[in-house]
Formats: sequence, C-alpha cells, structure tokens
Amino acid sequence: MDLIPHPRHAAYVTDDGFTLRPGTVLDVGPGAERAGRWVRSVLGAATGLEFPAGEPGPDGAVRLAVDATVPGGPEAYRITVDPQWGVRVTGAGPAGVFWGAQTLRQLLGPEAFRRAPTAPDRRWRVPAGHLQDAPRFGWRGFMLDVARHFMPKDGVLRYVDLMAVHKLNVLHLHLTDDQGWRVEVGRYPRLTEVGAWRTRTKVGLGAPDVWDERPHGGYYTRDDLREIVAYAAERHITVVPEIDIPGHSQAAIAAYPELGNTDVVDTAALPVLTGWGVNPNVLAPTEHTLRFYENVLTEVLEIFPGTFVHIGGDECPTEQWRSSPAAMERVAELGLRDAGELQSRLIRHFDRWLAERGRRLIGWDEILEGGLAPGAAVASWRGYAGGIAAARAGHDVVMCPQSHVYLDWRQSEHPDEPAPIAHARTLEDVYRFEPVPDELTPREAARVIGTQANAWTEVMDSVRVVDYMVFPRLAAFAEVAWSALPPPAERDWPGFERRMSAHYARLDALGVEYRPPAGPRPWQRRPGVTGRPKAGPPPIV
Ligand code: ACM
Repeated sequence: MDLIPHPRHAAYVTDDGFTLRPGTVLDVGPGAERAGRWVRSVLGAATGLEFPAGEPGPDGAVRLAVDATVPGGPEAYRITVDPQWGVRVTGAGPAGVFWGAQTLRQLLGPEAFRRAPTAPDRRWRVPAGHLQDAPRFGWRGFMLDVARHFMPKDGVLRYVDLMAVHKLNVLHLHLTDDQGWRVEVGRYPRLTEVGAWRTRTKVGLGAPDVWDERPHGGYYTRDDLREIVAYAAERHITVVPEIDIPGHSQAAIAAYPELGNTDVVDTAALPVLTGWGVNPNVLAPTEHTLRFYENVLTEVLEIFPGTFVHIGGDECPTEQWRSSPAAMERVAELGLRDAGELQSRLIRHFDRWLAERGRRLIGWDEILEGGLAPGAAVASWRGYAGGIAAARAGHDVVMCPQSHVYLDWRQSEHPDEPAPIAHARTLEDVYRFEPVPDELTPREAARVIGTQANAWTEVMDSVRVVDYMVFPRLAAFAEVAWSALPPPAERDWPGFERRMSAHYARLDALGVEYRPPAGPRPWQRRPGVTGRPKAGPPPIV
C-alpha cells in the first residue's frame, strides 16, 4: 500500500475491503478522544462523511480504542480491516491510536489528504488486512528556524499537520537568534518591539553583498504560541522552544543593550543583525544577564509545558569576553581558568535552574564542553562526535548531524537549486542516514533517544521555499526515525523510491511544493540567491 513511513508488519487483501458510507459509525473508546476528533474533522472534511457517534451495528464501523497489550510501547498501534465489521485502530496508548489514524488516511488514498471532496460519488474503501506498527525512536524531531525568517503562525500550524502526516512528534522552534526575536515576553516588550524587526536582509550566503532593502520581521504573541502548543498536543506532538544563549543573541542585545559587553562594544548602536554567520556580539556574563534570561524563561515555561527546553549554546565566540575587563573580572571572581569557561558556567546555571523547575535542558553539542548535569540532553549537530561523547558520558542524545539532516543543505548540484548552500544532500542520502553510530555499545546506543531534521532559514524566505527544501527529504527522514530500517547499505532505496511515487500524490493533495525528482520546476529557480559551503566537513556518504 506504499505507506510512508513503512510499518513493521502489514498484510493486505487489496481486492477486498471495507467501504465507508455516510452512516458509518465512529466508535471512540476511552483514551482515543484526540484521534476521534482528528478523524471526524480531518477525514470528515476530506471525505464529506459525518462519522456519527454510536454503537457499531451490522453495517460495520470505524472503531478507535486503546489497549495497553498492543506491543511496542505507548505509540504502537494495530489496524484490522474486515469487509463486514469495518476498521479497528487499536493503540497501546492514545498516541498509538493517533498514529494509526494517520496510517488509515494513507490507506484511503491521496484524495484523503485534501480538505474537501472533489467527487461526490467517490467510494472510500480501505483494503482488508492487518497491520502492526511501532516507532523506533521516541524523539522524532523537526526543527524550524523561525528566527532567520519569520514564518507566520498559520505556516507553523500547517507544519504541525505535515509532521503528523509523517508521524513526527517533536517540533523544535528556534525562536531567537541574531536576526530576530520571535516570542513575546510580557516583562521585556522591547524584545519584540525592537528585536523582532530588521531593516533589511542579506540575500543568499554567497560572496556578493546583495541586500533585499526591505524590512523583515514578525513574532508570535503568547496566545499564538499557546495555540501552537495546544494544536500540536492535539496531534501528540510536543513543542520544544529554543531560546539561544549566550551566542546568537544580537536581536536581544539590540533591544536591551545592557545585555551585551558594553565595555568593549557600543551595544546601543547594534541593530538586529541583517547578515549571516557566527557573530562576535554575545551576551555579557553578568548577574544581570542571568536574571534577565531567568525572567524570560519563566514566561517561556508558562507557555510550553513539555519537559525539554532548548537553550542553544552553539557558536559562541569568546573574543569579546577576552577583551572585556568586566568579563575577565568575572572569570577571576569565579575562579575560572579562562573566558571559555564562562560559557559552560552559564549553561550549567540554566541547567540547574530548569532542573529545579522540573524541566530538562537540551542544547547543541558545544554545551558538553565544561561538563553538564546528568539530566541535560545534547543535540549533536557538528557530526556524530558530540553525540557519541554525550552518550558515553551518560547523557541523552538527539542525533541531528549537519552532514546528513540539515535540510538547508542543497538537494543536488543542479545549477538551478533555489537555495544552493553547503553540500548536496540528496533524498537518498537522507534515506541512508543512520542515527545510531556503530561504535556505541548497546548500553550507550540506548542513550540516543531520537533524531531530528533541522530546517535553518537563512535562504528560505517563504513557506514555498521551506516546502521545497524540506520535502521530499522529510519523508525519508520520517522513515529513518520511525521504521526499524536495516543498516544504510542494506536499505531498500528502490523500494522507497517506488513508495514515494504514491507519497508525492499525497503531498500534491496537501499542497506541498516539494522538490520534484527531476529537479526544480522553472518557477522554483531563484536567480541571484547564491551559496557557499557553511562551516563543516565535506559530504560523508
Ligand atoms: C547550529 O547549526 N549552529 C546548531
């Protein structure tokens, strides 16, 4: 049936099945309520069927139920389709029922991915059979950088839906960076009044300095974020907010200049950054900075109920600290060896601060330098090494090496790639990505709680470009994260490509402007957007 991600076990009788009718009852058992609401609203809209509540009768029904004996953990599910009795989706827990409902949508055909029926007399038939499925990883993440280019709320909600289609369950929102601050903070209104806007934007990452010469910006109100969190939770997706410190913070410094290293830089003159790259203007290592970010995070915790809070920690140049008498005084006061240790001090402060509030810190792999509290987790982006070291040190790891799953990297060497940065990373490369490196022992490997694909948006200035860069590669990534695939060299790439032809029809019905297998469509070209390799190693294949 060309399912993506591929289920563990499936057996169909494709010439027989159960046909949904206008009167087909939807029987929602205890614990399956969210899946029930989703079926009624989303599949109801696509099919035009009402899915009335009621007891299953002799005409068959769609039943959604929780049964903890379904093997494979709380997200596991089973689907049975009988021509007479109908469809039964049974999850080991509520999330399992929801993922089973996503599979049911694929079984109904690509038209089930539209928002309204296109033919009134279409028969909605589910092939008879039996299917059993469970995810490989508990953290199946997707990161959206809404700081470099703001994505309006509606686009984020759409991406939540696209994640659900692919059984991804962690949305990491990169909410702050040098180029923009996107989360409203009641106590510090200038973070969005000033920090959410820049005067212009550098076009592309390539050498010529070309600017678009128009303002860019936007931010989410607290209610927008509460809506996103609730909309995601309804789909069994957790939102992880990222507030990046102490680097990637120029938008905050532009709003509140006292956050910067005022004794070496005229921070009052710093704008929200309009170009790209690793930036020397980092937070000052002061008590004031700590209190400021504690106050910010206090509001962030009120909005985001999930366990993990991402505090960034990546790419923090220490030059300003080294030349700042105030920072070096702080180094002496704290008895540190050098300015580099200020970074780990800061991270460990928030590690403790979050732990005291029942949360867990996650950060980019630079946070390993200097030692971490045991509860902290590491997102390994500079290849696998950080993740390996973290797993060996007993930390949970989310594997997201830039060499494999940075979805801003170009998709081919084609001269018309619309966002031609870094190295080519094809759909097949992503399909052959293995999150757990061979050198880990089974005990260490168990520390890899999951994997994540990251969409950085320096050269993605609209949802259309994000769609192009993210798809179809996110479909391959979803299969890596969900399905128990064999080692990379043994993966059935031709089989995946074949299933993708069915999946493209689903993406078309959803209105996703993916990269076609043959290369960019003529209107997807963006002449003038230039690229060069981002920092990092050449391709690993
Ligand atoms: C990163 O790409 N700087 C996490």
